[in-house]
Amino acid sequence: MTSFDAVFQSSINNPEEFWAEAAKNITWYKEYDKVLDSSNPPFYKWYPGGKMNTCYNAIDRHVENGRADQTAIIYDSPVTNTIRKISYKELLDQVSTFAGVLKGMGVGKGDTVVIYMPMIPEAAVAMLACARLGAIHSVVFGGFAPHELAIRVDHAQPKVIVTASGAIEGVKNLAYKPLVDSAIEQSTHKVDKVILFQRDFVKADMIDGRDFDWNEMMEKSEPADCVEVDATDPLYILYTSGTTGMPKGVLRDNGGHAVALYWTMKNLYDINPGEVWWSASDVGWVVGHSYIVYGPLLQGSTTVFYEGKPIGTPDAGAFWRVISEHKVKALFTAPTAFRAIKKEDPDGLLFKKYDTSCFECLYLAGERTDPDTLHWAEDLLGVPVIDHWWQTETGWAIVGNCRGIEELPVKEGSPTKPMPGYDVKILDDEGKELPAGQEGNIVVKLPLPPGTLTTLWRNDERFVKSYMTTFPGYYETSDGGYIDEDGYVYVMGRMDDVINIAGHRLSTGAMEEIIANHPDIAECAVFGVDDKLKGQLPVGFFVVKAGVTRDPVEIKDELVKMVRESIGPIACFREATQVVRLPKTRSGKILRGTMRSIANNKDYNMPSTIDDPVILDEITDTLREMGYVKK
Ligand code: COA
Ligand code: AMP
Repeated sequence: MTSFDAVFQSSINNPEEFWAEAAKNITWYKEYDKVLDSSNPPFYKWYPGGKMNTCYNAIDRHVENGRADQTAIIYDSPVTNTIRKISYKELLDQVSTFAGVLKGMGVGKGDTVVIYMPMIPEAAVAMLACARLGAIHSVVFGGFAPHELAIRVDHAQPKVIVTASGAIEGVKNLAYKPLVDSAIEQSTHKVDKVILFQRDFVKADMIDGRDFDWNEMMEKSEPADCVEVDATDPLYILYTSGTTGMPKGVLRDNGGHAVALYWTMKNLYDINPGEVWWSASDVGWVVGHSYIVYGPLLQGSTTVFYEGKPIGTPDAGAFWRVISEHKVKALFTAPTAFRAIKKEDPDGLLFKKYDTSCFECLYLAGERTDPDTLHWAEDLLGVPVIDHWWQTETGWAIVGNCRGIEELPVKEGSPTKPMPGYDVKILDDEGKELPAGQEGNIVVKLPLPPGTLTTLWRNDERFVKSYMTTFPGYYETSDGGYIDEDGYVYVMGRMDDVINIAGHRLSTGAMEEIIANHPDIAECAVFGVDDKLKGQLPVGFFVVKAGVTRDPVEIKDELVKMVRESIGPIACFREATQVVRLPKTRSGKILRGTMRSIANNKDYNMPSTIDDPVILDEITDTLREMGYVKK
């Protein structure tokens, strides 16, 4: 047995022993009574009875234990031409002071705070300040439009919204404040306190009595201390796309989250305290929560906070400049970023300009790493390129290559083997386990390891229905795939209506709900088509109501505008075509999966329940005219 297999087996055979050992890296105010409470499945509780504080573990204890002057955050912002280093001591000052600001506004243990900010260190300060008070943050990605922000505000019911006046997206200056104002207008939960961080390039108007200036409040405020919370108390809600317009509020606890993330920094990513780690994502996504903010800080390493793009800020050498300038040991990003770099600089000429001898490994996730991107990156960088698979729900990798334990050979198309703690199986639709090589539903036997979702915010029922019902005793990942003879997992894609656009998770169901609101639309279907740069892009088909004779292109333009204004530009919804009818089963279910297979030139079985097979021929012709179907 290899050393990795031995560690994996011990995590599955003796999970409590395994995670008790890992829990020693966290400072507890009071030790937990039990490692795992399995008395009420599927609501498992890690470390019940334990008392701790995530912010204390991420900042204070490092200041107390010799890391006060070590850099905690390197803010590198090519879009504002800024590089700023924040030591653990300075971070403690800022976070405790901002916690004082929130406390002064009545925020305490169990209250919620929505954070809508670009990639500036103040976003991390706000998150950690919530954790310090035992308050629950919900960060919303800045690419979401006011309507999406309003949905989250209504569901999370925050006492305060923390925002910034704007962001620079590539070369565009974007004002955030009007978006927040509009979201508050649209939401029924009325937020009466907004804290605003003014940025130099875009000054926002303030609403008297409701809006408070970040800097002014910081000057007036007294630092607040860490509040003791239960290990099982919530740390954050992170909304993620499901199959409908109502996103799922994934809930993360404090104790299990801290233990698991700390464990992954060394064992998965081979990072030691004090080393420089860079996750080029956004705080609005789970990767940003786990590996821009919490993971590296819990461990006492240095995290790079990058406000820029892989290309265009200023060029496709930006990543190599950051690695070289800050002595980055390992980078984590999405394959789409590498495809963008490859497109701009296919021969990697810009890479050769920089000394990147400090760099040891590239980690990719967010979507499948295609073999072309894998090999291009391997050849260019001359270091291991490691794919790993995870979801917002799990908070850390389900399948990966634990370089800190034993680096396993990379097989293209596979993120390697199940991580310790995850008992991954492949089941057919009836719940029967499938043998090696056969594709089916990827599931994880319960209990899930620490750090994974404990439930959905204020919706235990949806939690059970979405993840725990189809295959009793297992967590349903909604991804399909198979495991080969060597135990390597291959993730082939989502089985539901979630799509992945440039590493961003979006719901085609949500787009359909928006389109259906158009007065001329009778019905519609949106599905994902493969895209060379962004992985997937959404394509819509719409049928107009009887009597509508308008120009279809005009209607399409209106639909594109509606999706952009309601969900946001990141939905990248640009393609929609009018059709006479949509293919359906006899019970009226639209055959989105079949249309997706046709558009992506994949083989498909004619559904036995199809209402009228001729419609599929019409759809195939339309997709051929649109340039998707090649045959
Ligand atoms: N705030 C506001 N708008 C945003 C935004 C944000 N934080 N992020 C993206 N957008 C906008 C973009 O400006 C663009 O708008 P446009 O249609 O007006 O041009 C739109 O959303 C689409 O953005 P994106 O899909 O990012 O496309 P792009 O062409 O600007 O950039 C990549 C392409 C590949 C360079 C970029 O998607 C990228 O860096 N991807 C990496 C993704 C990642 O890190 N994912 C995290 C998971 S690990
Ligand atoms: P998110 O919740 O935004 O992290 O998106 C999770 C989804 O992204 C998964 O369910 C997968 O469909 C996809 N995904 C993430 N990482 C990978 C990967 N390494 N390989 C294949 N798919 C991935």
